[in-house]
Amino acid sequence: MKTLTKRAWLTALCWSLGASAAAQSGAARAADNPPYKVDGGNKVDAQTLAGWKTWRAMACERCHGAAQEGMVGPSLVDSLKVLNKDQFKVVVLKGRIEKGMPNFDGSKMVTENIDSLYAYLKGRSDGAIEPGRLQEIGK
Ligand code: HEC
Repeated sequence: MKTLTKRAWLTALCWSLGASAAAQSGAARAADNPPYKVDGGNKVDAQTLAGWKTWRAMACERCHGAAQEGMVGPSLVDSLKVLNKDQFKVVVLKGRIEKGMPNFDGSKMVTENIDSLYAYLKGRSDGAIEPGRLQEIGK
């Protein structure tokens, strides 16, 4: 009886450890799930490509540098390690006029591609996407 109880207890312990490990790896997967797809550093999904095109069209590099590493504006490679997506959207759309960051909420291209812009810059910040010209995966 005593051994049986012990075994039952161990079984329960193992089960709960296994379950929590599974739950944790599930959470890690969700957190790791990037908003972009990249192949070989310079091929990305269509949405991320639209983000890069928006970046180019708006000439964000005038202030943040061609490789997003900062000029008069801060390094977005660093910023996107800290800013979440909502914070990113607020800054880009509303700007920080008094600090030299223009508002882009008047640009249809930016308002329509804000998620793509975030995906692109997140990929740059993660080091997954190379600076410079990109192509679409499979094209
Ligand atoms: C005229 C120069 C200029 C242009 C053009 C510009 N920025 Fe900025 N940006 C700045 C400056 C300066 C700051 C820092 C504001 C501050 O001190 O809070 C900034 C801040 C930011 C931040 C917040 C960084 C942080 O760590 O809080 C983001 C994100 C950003 N810019 C994205 C963009 C994007 C995307 C574009 C193009 C659509 C763009 N910027 C175009 C000057 C510029």
